[in-house]
Amino acid sequence: MEFIGATILLVFLCPSAIGGRSGEDYVRPLPRETLSLPWRPVRSSDPQQVHISLAGINHMRITWITDNKSSPSIVKYGTSPGEYTSSSQGESTSYKYLFYNSGKIHHVVIGPLESNTTYFYQCGEQGPEFQLKTPPAEFPITFAVVGDLGQTGWTKSTLDHISQCKYDLHLLPGDLSYADYQQHLWDSFGTLVQPLASTRPWMVTEGNHEKESILFFESRFQAYNARWKMPYQESGSTSNLYYSFEVAGAHIIMLGSYTDYDENSEQYAWLKADLAKVDREKTPWLLVLLHAPWYNSNWAHQGEGEAMMASMESLLYAAGVDIFIAGHVHAYERMERVFNGRVDPCGPVHITIGDGGNREGLAQRFFKPKPEWSVFREASFGHGKLKIVNSTHAFWSWHRNDNDESVNSDEFWITSLSTSGCIVRKGWKILMSP
Ligand SMILES: *[C@@H]1O[C@H](CO)[C@@H](O)[C@H](O)[C@H]1NC(C)=O
Ligand SMILES: *[C@@H]1O[C@H](CO)[C@@H](O)[C@H](O)[C@H]1NC(C)=O
Ligand SMILES: *[C@@H]1O[C@H](CO)[C@@H](O)[C@H](O)[C@H]1NC(C)=O
Ligand SMILES: [Fe+2]
Repeated sequence: MEFIGATILLVFLCPSAIGGRSGEDYVRPLPRETLSLPWRPVRSSDPQQVHISLAGINHMRITWITDNKSSPSIVKYGTSPGEYTSSSQGESTSYKYLFYNSGKIHHVVIGPLESNTTYFYQCGEQGPEFQLKTPPAEFPITFAVVGDLGQTGWTKSTLDHISQCKYDLHLLPGDLSYADYQQHLWDSFGTLVQPLASTRPWMVTEGNHEKESILFFESRFQAYNARWKMPYQESGSTSNLYYSFEVAGAHIIMLGSYTDYDENSEQYAWLKADLAKVDREKTPWLLVLLHAPWYNSNWAHQGEGEAMMASMESLLYAAGVDIFIAGHVHAYERMERVFNGRVDPCGPVHITIGDGGNREGLAQRFFKPKPEWSVFREASFGHGKLKIVNSTHAFWSWHRNDNDESVNSDEFWITSLSTSGCIVRKGWKILMSP
C-alpha cells in the first residue's frame, strides 16, 4: 500500500526535468466534457466563489458572492487562524441578465499587508475561514500562467497540476469561464477555481469569451467586470479591461484585446503613460499579457492580433518589454525575441499559452515550415510557470497535461533587457514625448 502511495505521489510532483514522450509521438487527447458543478452552496448565506487579486502596493482585493442581499461586505483577517486582528469594509454590486439575477458580489480591499506572509480571513462575518499568502517583496517570485481555462475535465487536470507547484501568483491572459451567456456558468467557474483563487492572487485580463453583448444594450463584459474586478483604478486606468500592477521587481501590464487600442484610444494613451512610469532600477522585469497573440504560427485565429500589434508594438519595443504572453490559440507556442515580424534581440520573448483545457479542444494545425521566429510549438493542454530568479534571470517552463500527469515539456532561461543596451534612453524619450 505504502509503495503505491509513494508512486502516485511521485507522478504528481511538479517535475523539474524535461520528460515524457516527445511532442511528435504524443497522442492528442480529446476535449473533455464541461464539468457539472453545483453552483448553489448547501447553506445559501455562506460566501461563495472566493477569489483574491492584488489591489495596489501591499493590498489585496477579496471578492465573493452571497445569495443573501443583506450579507455585509466585510473581511476580517489576521496572521493566526481564528484571530482576526484587522477588519475592512468594502463595496458590493450585482447585475441582471435576461432572467438571471446575480448574487451580491462583494469586493473588499484589505491591507496594508506584510509581504510573503500567510493571512487567515473570513468573508461577510460568516462561513469558513480562508487563507492566502501574499507575494514576496523581492525575487525570487514564481508565476503560474495559463489562459483559456473553461471548466472541463482538462481544466480540472490543469488546476490540479498548478496546485501541486509552489507559486506566488496566477496570471490569466483571457477566456475564463466560457460561460458564453449562460450566467450560472460564471458561478460554477467561481466555485471551481475557489480552492486556488482564494489562496493566491489571480490577475486576469479579458478574452473574447468574456464579451457577452446583448442586442441593443451595450453591456459587453457586464458579468466579467462585476465579478473579476482588477486594480485598474489603482493603476490610473479608467477601464477594468486594461491595467498594470507591480509585484516583487516586476511591472506587469494587462492589456485588453477587445477594447479600443488605436493611437487615439484611451488604452493607447494609458499604456504610453504607464510605460513612462516604469523604473527599471526598481522593476527590472517588464511583462505584458493580453488575449489575442501578435505572433502565432497556428492556423487558429490567424491575424486577429495584427491591428493591435500595428498600433502598439513599437511602444512595447521602445520600452524594452521582456516577455509578452497571450492566450486565445488553444495550443502552446514559444517564440524568439521578435519585433516587426522578425527575430530581434531587443524585442520581447512571445509566448502563447491558451491551452488551459476549455471545451473547444486543441488547435492542432501549425504552419509548415515553421517561421524563423517560432521556437517550440505543441497542441496540448497544460500550463506555464515563470520563475523570476533575480533582476537579470528568469526561468520559463511549460508543463503538458500528459493524460492526467504534468510533464515538463519546454523550458528555457530568459535574461532581462533592463541591463542590455536595448533600451536606448534617447530613443525612448523621443517616443514618450507628447
Ligand atoms: C442574511 O444576512 C443577515 C446579515 O448577516 C442576517 O441577519 C440574516 O439572518 C441572513 N438571512 C439569511 C436567510 O440567512
Ligand atoms: C518567503 O518565505 C519563505 C518561507 O517563510 C522563505 O523561505 C522565502 O525565502 C521567502 N521569500 C522571500 C523572497 O522573502
Ligand atoms: C541571477 O541568477 C542567475 C541564474 O541562477 C545567476 O547565474 C546569476 O549570477 C544571478 N545574478 C545575480 C546578480 O545574482
Ligand atoms: Fe479566445
